[in-house]
Amino acid sequence: GPTAVIVVAAGSGQRLGESVPKAFVKLDDRTILQHAVARTAKLPAVDVVVVVVPADLVARARLDLMFARPRVSVTAGGAERTDSVRAGIDHVLALAPDAKAILVHDAARPLTPASVFDRIIVAVSGGCDAVVPALPVVDTLKRVATDAGQTTVEATVDRETLRAIQTPQGFSVDALTRAYHAASGLATDDAGLVERCGIPVHVVDGDALAFKITTPWDLRIARGVVAESGP
Ligand code: C5P
Repeated sequence: GPTAVIVVAAGSGQRLGESVPKAFVKLDDRTILQHAVARTAKLPAVDVVVVVVPADLVARARLDLMFARPRVSVTAGGAERTDSVRAGIDHVLALAPDAKAILVHDAARPLTPASVFDRIIVAVSGGCDAVVPALPVVDTLKRVATDAGQTTVEATVDRETLRAIQTPQGFSVDALTRAYHAASGLATDDAGLVERCGIPVHVVDGDALAFKITTPWDLRIARGVVAESGP
């Protein structure tokens, strides 16, 4: 059955401090969303791309993403990321009722290489219900506590067993719809909801280029990478 990618781009991106929602900030002559979708729509293993944007920017996004037609479809998201993904799942299942695999990807990771998508798609096609890309943690991690305005270290955490998780995250349609059906409360990623259903989540290698643009510093790095790699 078909493989779909949901690109979520309905966040406000307040931590970036720009005047437009994050996905609509430019990296060069193109926005973060245009970069993310250009890479996703090019993947031979992907049949359907659903892009989720703020409701007032659906028309603007359709114009911006004309270059990727007819594989790309735009729909409106919600207040929380979970709401936006849910809207994306509904849209995928309306367009492709026979979809077998769904990848959920942050538009805020526009430089994610095709190799990461490939590793996720291979794992889901091979029978994994849930797969996430991960990187080792390079910094030393400590748990802290703040009391009366003073922050002190409580413990140093063993980083060997920890991973930083990226997107795209891949799921069988059954696992993802089950997780979102059962979902109560919010999760910072989709695999978090799948875990709560007791479904095993597999891990493959992520990539430094799949970093998430969150702060002005990240935006500076992304613009530098794009300038360096050319059009
Ligand atoms: O805020 P953060 O960068 O963690 O958001 C991750 C991704 O989720 C972004 O691509 C953002 O556009 C998306 N998102 C969304 N709807 C929301 C909040 C975030 O699509 N309500």
